[in-house]
Amino acid sequence: MIQLVVWYATLLFIILLAVVFGWVAFSSKKKQDYAPIIKRWYKARSIYGVLLVVLMLVVTIYTLRELPFNEPSHVEGVEVIPVHVEAFQFGFELNMTEFSVGDTVEFNVTTKDVTHGFGVYDPDMVLVGQTQAMPEYTNTFYLTFDQPGTYQVLCLEYCGLAHHMMMTEMVVK
Ligand code: CUA
Repeated sequence: MIQLVVWYATLLFIILLAVVFGWVAFSSKKKQDYAPIIKRWYKARSIYGVLLVVLMLVVTIYTLRELPFNEPSHVEGVEVIPVHVEAFQFGFELNMTEFSVGDTVEFNVTTKDVTHGFGVYDPDMVLVGQTQAMPEYTNTFYLTFDQPGTYQVLCLEYCGLAHHMMMTEMVVK
């Protein structure tokens, strides 16, 4: 059924396109004064420009409404477990890798050498949190483990030949 609809829609568009091509080819033989055409199209262009700006403003405002930057990174008053993370070529050193469901962890992430990424994936391999590991700087981010299983940590910043092998695991019980 759907193939039939697509087929007829395609056919219709091909015919429409052919008509437009034919019309352009046919009317191109007629001689016309150029100045009025320029005037008309400059007008059309400015209307098009205004419409485009309005459309972009609407889309921008609509899509930027729900940015999470003003939201708290974790629930205030909840006890957090600080975990120190040191990235290096090519691995991660965590001073704690076993947690319980419901734990809120404060990852303090830095690196011994070059910039790395610290990306945490839940047992379904969905990225649930990430930050950059930067030399001589500590980035902090909070994560609450809401399901048990093995969480993978992958490097998300190309950092050298074995970047793709840079990973570790955390277990949530
Ligand atoms: Cu470390 Cu890529």
